[in-house]
Amino acid sequence: MKIGVILPFSGPYAPYGEQISSGIKVYMKEHGDTVAGRKIEMIYKDDTGVAPEIDRRLAQELIVTEKVDMLAGFGMTPSALAVAPLATQSKRPMIVMNAGSATIPSRSPYIVRVSESLPQVTRPMAQWAAKHGVKKVYTLVADYAPGIDTEKAFTKTFEDLGGTIIGSVRVPVTNTDFSSYMQKIKDEKPDAVFMFLPPGPATISFVKSYKERGLRKAGIQMFGTHDLTEETLIDALGDGVIGTITSGYYSAAHDSDLNRKFVKEYKAMFGPDAKINFMSATGYDGMAAIYAVLEKTGGKTDDGDKLMQAFKGLSFESPRGPVTIDAETRDMTQNIYLREVKRVDGQLANVEFDKVANVKAQP
Ligand code: PHB
Repeated sequence: MKIGVILPFSGPYAPYGEQISSGIKVYMKEHGDTVAGRKIEMIYKDDTGVAPEIDRRLAQELIVTEKVDMLAGFGMTPSALAVAPLATQSKRPMIVMNAGSATIPSRSPYIVRVSESLPQVTRPMAQWAAKHGVKKVYTLVADYAPGIDTEKAFTKTFEDLGGTIIGSVRVPVTNTDFSSYMQKIKDEKPDAVFMFLPPGPATISFVKSYKERGLRKAGIQMFGTHDLTEETLIDALGDGVIGTITSGYYSAAHDSDLNRKFVKEYKAMFGPDAKINFMSATGYDGMAAIYAVLEKTGGKTDDGDKLMQAFKGLSFESPRGPVTIDAETRDMTQNIYLREVKRVDGQLANVEFDKVANVKAQP
């Protein structure tokens, strides 16, 4: 039984590949590499980041040459969108482990997503802001599907609750200089800036400009989805992000026995300083879903439709909390947590303080 995993392992988004594959490896260490009598072989491929033509070629090779039973991974939305038609053609399940644009599961009946839909994590952030005295927000997002999804979801939810969006800007995904944007935002005097950038070097320069241009001093709050303060970046963002509120489905500081076990095992495998973020959790959960499906089909993988049927409605306990793969949308129904950056035992951490329970991915 072969699973082809396509992820960025090089380039600015290389940490996505590392985090997700590490989560996969922790699951396989805990549960063994044989399920329902089938030995599982993982084949990892590097798509280098936003490079849909590479994704297409790698998926084609995995299907035709390697004869994989399933495809998995997909760090970025353009990767998942590029491969969706190949999942349909080959009738192979495609387990999306990060890419978050809302429309992805609708692009193929063979897609199941174990991460998030960006509007799902964004709406609770907008609700929290509206309830806590924030009246005027300026949005800044990366100009590609996930950024546009978050901008729209934040704007609609916030305006429906009486808030005002006083400005919005979409920046190229490759942009790494935010100083002029920050100056403009500061001049507009919002109560807060809401941002979405795919986590990476750009996030670090965004936060740096926020500070250097004096937005923090001016009392302009900074909000985002969990992407803003995820655990591989948080130390580089520094003490300046203490107090920052974000919304997300997983924090390494999540208070549950299963999460403590996950964190412990992860550090045992990858070292005491290993970073664990939401991508680590989605890699782990993707394998949990695959193992559960194989148990259900008695290890049979020849019928893609039967495999998909087995994914639908699957419920299990994840390090993030209880999750269900919604049978209709093939997206996760899960808790979305509000978190605040705090120093815990000397380390910066996203500490969950509230949650919206069982949020469906698609309204
Ligand atoms: C995406 O491209 O869909 C994406 C990338 C990074 C994230 C979330 C979504 O953290």
